[in-house]
Amino acid sequence: MKKLFTLCFVIAASRVFAQAPIGPATASAVPVLQIDSGKVTGKVSPTLYGLMTEEINYSYEGGLYGELIRNRSFLANPSWPIYWEVVGNPAVLLDRNQPLNSALNVSLKVDAGTASEKTPEGIANGGYWGIPVKPDTIYRASFFARSDNYRGPLTVALVSISSGWHNYAVRLRTKDVPPSNDNALEIFTTTPGTIWFQQVSLFPPMFDNQPDGFRPDIMELLAAMRPSFLRFPGGNYLEGNTIQERFDWQSTIGPVWQRPGHKSPWGYWSTDGMGLMEFLEWCQDLHMQPVLAIYAGYSLDGQHVAPGPELEPYVQSALDEIQYVIGSTSTKWGGQRASDGHPAPFPLRYIEVGNEDYNRSSEYDGRFAQFYDAIKAKYPELQVIATAPVKSRTPDVIDEHYYRSQEDMEANAFQYDQRPRTGPKVFVGEWATRVGSPTPNMAGALGDAAWMTGMERNSDLVVMASYAPLFVNVSRLTGQDRSMQWTTDLIGYDGLTSYGSPSYYAQVMFSTLHGDEILATDSQNIPTREWQPRPFQGRTRPPEQLRQIFFDATRDNQSGIIYLKVVNETGTTQNVHVQIAGTPMIQPEGKAVVLQANSPDDTNSIEQPRNIVPHMEEVRGLSTDFSRLLAPYSITVLMLRTK
Ligand code: AHR
Repeated sequence: MKKLFTLCFVIAASRVFAQAPIGPATASAVPVLQIDSGKVTGKVSPTLYGLMTEEINYSYEGGLYGELIRNRSFLANPSWPIYWEVVGNPAVLLDRNQPLNSALNVSLKVDAGTASEKTPEGIANGGYWGIPVKPDTIYRASFFARSDNYRGPLTVALVSISSGWHNYAVRLRTKDVPPSNDNALEIFTTTPGTIWFQQVSLFPPMFDNQPDGFRPDIMELLAAMRPSFLRFPGGNYLEGNTIQERFDWQSTIGPVWQRPGHKSPWGYWSTDGMGLMEFLEWCQDLHMQPVLAIYAGYSLDGQHVAPGPELEPYVQSALDEIQYVIGSTSTKWGGQRASDGHPAPFPLRYIEVGNEDYNRSSEYDGRFAQFYDAIKAKYPELQVIATAPVKSRTPDVIDEHYYRSQEDMEANAFQYDQRPRTGPKVFVGEWATRVGSPTPNMAGALGDAAWMTGMERNSDLVVMASYAPLFVNVSRLTGQDRSMQWTTDLIGYDGLTSYGSPSYYAQVMFSTLHGDEILATDSQNIPTREWQPRPFQGRTRPPEQLRQIFFDATRDNQSGIIYLKVVNETGTTQNVHVQIAGTPMIQPEGKAVVLQANSPDDTNSIEQPRNIVPHMEEVRGLSTDFSRLLAPYSITVLMLRTK
């Protein structure tokens, strides 16, 4: 099993609210939070907290997938090797007459005809807004090259190039240099000749010491969330702008130098280094179950495939994809998985048909039915998720997406309390309080936490939930070649370092600190503020009174610990009174984990990554009837021992 660092809560030495006083119950005007621990209203779904991911904001290219060379296969632009520079004065062009293979059907021809000791000639790549370099680190550089007339050395390392395509690999070790973010990789010669290049690659040390793959720092942040599933590969990225640009899983497997790559709908090229196998390995590394989204015949510019015979090849492709994931090695695609290096099948329970089809094509019902029938006929054990309401079949689960303001999130924190339990289970496959950029601030975290109390309280119905988007490269936030396409993303990074937003830490708290039983709750005297909702469909809406304290309670059946989560969105300290019925006692000593800020605008950033992080407190004076001071702008998880 792979070893990951887990992120620990900081034990606060002395913060203003680190030791919130516990006292006897006070006057009746104080907010009262009531828990009936004798009344279990449902089970907390073991898969409630998970991740959603797609290629957006340079999530993999220039992100989790650690490749440092940008446009390594020269396919990002058909007419010019963008992101490449020349060293000296060679003639360079994209040459379709010397392909490496049919997938990488172009190469970079470098005619270094006048190279000499004094005037070396070659190529250079500045990566994703600079190549990050750390001291005393080994980097693996590799490339394919060929030449018919050149026999001399190349510097990256001394390698002799010969005719025909060959793969060259070298290790580059940095000295005791300061960490920096603005480097380039150069490959040049001092001997005249013509050389063709393809798949020029550079990887720093990767997670689990793999030669390529995932950035260890980002994997650590994810591991600390203890996610139970990963929804991939989209999102819009699944669908592509056109059918041609969909996530076509078959062209994302096998050796990376045989993957053609494709354009992400978020406006940049993906080499598909992050292909189906890498997604599955990512799941394996973090013990997440895959929630596999399959292309369902609709692309973003409106191109779509009608249900019926035209859709059949896409249905077959989805069945093949499932076979690739779980089929035995004696099947065609299970055998392919084995030859791609993973003979053991991956666990798989959920298949999602398309993405956000609710306002995209009226034919979704028909398309969904065709996929549903084919999947259930062959794999009856799989749960099929619909991305829009359908009438012709009853999906096992329905995926709902919510991107909202802080107030909208809070106003809807009770939306699932009244939902009848007779329909499909719910997967909140994308959600976020969109406040703060590039990553959410404390206001975002407060909206998120209020919303999560609602999902957790209803997790007999809401069986899975995943924040989106997960990642953003913060290297260049504006301008034409910007690294961010969508504001408010959970985790930020540049080439060298990464950080979690306040919302990220709220997720860590919710995901790692909960029981398996939902307890009945009630409340009195919750403070409110007036909020004017925005007009909806051209109609003004009346002002609403918005609650300002949110909470839910779960209990671990084995240990008897009650997890009470409380969100105080007000800017003042709130003295709340907690009453717990249905248990003879609460141990006087417990623990609390608190995330708190001085202002809703406070946030974390690449420069100040740990401005707002949770801290743990020892709490005394607890009973079945106690008071607690909630810090302004705070999220608290109280752990109360019933044994
Ligand atoms: O998360 C960003 C985008 O929002 C997703 O790609 C899409 O599913 C949704 O509209």
